[in-house]
Amino acid sequence: MFQLLHRWIWRDPERCARKLLTFAETEADGGRDLVRAAELTPDPILRRLFTVHATDEERHAQLFRARGAALLNPLQARASTAFQLNWMSPGERGLDDLRIHAESDASLLAFLHLSEKSAAGHFAIYVEALKHDPLTSSVFKEVLKDESFHMNYTLAQLTRVAPQRHGIFLWKARFSRLWKAYLRAMSAIAGIMGAVILTLQYFILLPPFALLAKRAARREPLGWVPVAQERGRTLESQY
Ligand SMILES: [Fe+2]
Ligand SMILES: [Fe+2]
Repeated sequence: MFQLLHRWIWRDPERCARKLLTFAETEADGGRDLVRAAELTPDPILRRLFTVHATDEERHAQLFRARGAALLNPLQARASTAFQLNWMSPGERGLDDLRIHAESDASLLAFLHLSEKSAAGHFAIYVEALKHDPLTSSVFKEVLKDESFHMNYTLAQLTRVAPQRHGIFLWKARFSRLWKAYLRAMSAIAGIMGAVILTLQYFILLPPFALLAKRAARREPLGWVPVAQERGRTLESQY
């Protein structure tokens, strides 16, 4: 059932292309955050790994961008349909607007590990869902290899830098991701509620005002109207 849903989401070539372009932006954003993390960490091993990781994310961005553009090019003449349904089939969330400078190496690694794990899970599903489009599927397959490496090295390094407390860092990161998912869901619901309430206002509150305006317009005399003598002024000034 879940597979069928994903196959349906990825079947539309335009939606697929736009999702890939969105994923490319997120990957590039994640890459920039990792460059910043590499600059800030005092640990030389992490600095090297974050730099390699940032290069991988930038490469993913290029792969997604190239494939998205290749899919979108022949569709240029069509109007945009595109519900991307990213809440159901997201890409990699990268560092999810984490404030890099405010995080310790351990909390950053915990957050990265969970994020990469979730991305690897999603990308494995997309490889299957895109069997009808082998080129796009192979892009995800390629990216998935790196995401698995990211998932493993972040956990190994977390265990190295916080051997006693790595479990606590993982739970904290889990809670933070859950909180962000909750905020995303609530802002999506707020968006839907806003659209519904404004539509109802448009159809319920506006018609009486429109009727009153029409009635008032009917009472207005048509054409030129002579001005009463006492109000007559010379036309020498604007007022
Ligand atoms: Fe990635
Ligand atoms: Fe990654």
